[in-house]
Amino acid sequence: MCVYRPGFFHSLLGNPYLQTLKTGFLRRLREGPGQRRSFAYLTIKDRIPQILTKAIDTLHRHKSEFFEKHGEEGTEAEKKAISLLSKLRNESQTDKPIIPLVEKFADTDIWNQYLEYQQSLLNESGGKPRWFYSPWLFVECYMYRRIHEAVIQSPPIDDFDVFKESKEQNFFESLEFIEALCVHLQELIITIEDLDESQLKNEFFKLLQISLWGNKCDLSLSGGETSSQKTNIIHSLEDLKPFILVNDMERLWSLLSNLKKTREKVSTIRVDIVLDNSGFELVTDLTLADFLLSSKLATEIHFYGKMIPWFVSDTTIHDFNWLIEQVKHSNHKLVSKCGNDWENYVKMGRWVYHDHIFWTLPHEFHAMSQVAPDLYAELQKAHLILFKGDLNYRKLTGDRKWEFTVPFHQALNGFHPAPLCSIRTLKAEVQVGLQPGQGEQLTASEPNWLTTGKYGVFQFDSPL
Ligand code: F6P
Ligand code: MG
Repeated sequence: MCVYRPGFFHSLLGNPYLQTLKTGFLRRLREGPGQRRSFAYLTIKDRIPQILTKAIDTLHRHKSEFFEKHGEEGTEAEKKAISLLSKLRNESQTDKPIIPLVEKFADTDIWNQYLEYQQSLLNESGGKPRWFYSPWLFVECYMYRRIHEAVIQSPPIDDFDVFKESKEQNFFESLEFIEALCVHLQELIITIEDLDESQLKNEFFKLLQISLWGNKCDLSLSGGETSSQKTNIIHSLEDLKPFILVNDMERLWSLLSNLKKTREKVSTIRVDIVLDNSGFELVTDLTLADFLLSSKLATEIHFYGKMIPWFVSDTTIHDFNWLIEQVKHSNHKLVSKCGNDWENYVKMGRWVYHDHIFWTLPHEFHAMSQVAPDLYAELQKAHLILFKGDLNYRKLTGDRKWEFTVPFHQALNGFHPAPLCSIRTLKAEVQVGLQPGQGEQLTASEPNWLTTGKYGVFQFDSPL
């Protein structure tokens, strides 16, 4: 459940950190002529129309399926959804004001209140929030929420996921390397009891890195175009190490291995994974989760996915179940063993999947304790929370224009439900916790280092 407590927005306005909303430290799309080619600007100008066009095309291609299922009503619904998406594309391309949501869904009021809040920030300058003059994080989330609105306003096709096809394509195109990863996991599990401490740590680090580089495969950076896994990542880990800019893997190991040693005192060791993309990345996450249970570094894993289709490739409960089913039905014995084990973990409650509408709101995570206290309380039960991906990083750090050397702890702005780690490849112009000069050096040698997905981080923070 999400609520705004009385005075929530007032408290935001009084919070010196959030004053940056007013003073412009928040990443906006157009901040002057120099910003016109910023990644944020290009996202809204080029990538969003591309994603919307692809969604329209997908609906169009399913026309006969809708007709077969629902008759004329299905055809009418398809037309309606297409016209709503075309209108949305036009609004974004012509920099129209951002309008309130109209249909009634679990989060409609909260979105509209957030929009009013944006409006109140602009009132002083007499403006209205518009597509090219609003905070990037807000505009981008709003676009995906409007896509959802177009679909739910078009019954009986209101449960259609316009991104499902792309997510499934990513899975099938990555199949060779998904199989390689599953085989690697099963061979590891057979010998896991015989591994000494340093071998186990080594395997843990390998699977963490696989999960990190799995985050390269998102479909929103590529504008909805295919972005599958094309190499056997297990063989590339050594070569990729220099691209890990912050590497807190040792801290993850010491946290979990110490908990394991005190198992008599703590009956459960809980690791929560805030999922990102479905397809290859999800397989890397499930592989890591399986390893954590098999090695007894954890006793239960809690996953968090999205309640609505989101940023093209983000995982919904449907994607989660679909993927496990696919792996289970593989012709390869070791691969299907993975699928069977994963299904059993879910049945036995050792893997728990959670939905929460907060993950598809535009809020940065520091607002979670106020906006979604139930979710915050759930996360507090974890011994460790892994946040996958770029969007989660943007929400962890508030998507501010931080100096590269600002400590991660500071950028979290009080969001400390439990020890946490961001596992993220860099696809947006925000990065904290670097060594002095590190960011500047990268900028000088590779101007686009922040947005290509080539670099990654394991960035840890503990509330203690
Ligand atoms: O388009 C904005 C963005 O946050 C990019 O920075 C990134 O490419 C993508 O969306 C989402 O990435 P991820 O799937 O890693 O959260
Ligand atoms: Mg994503």
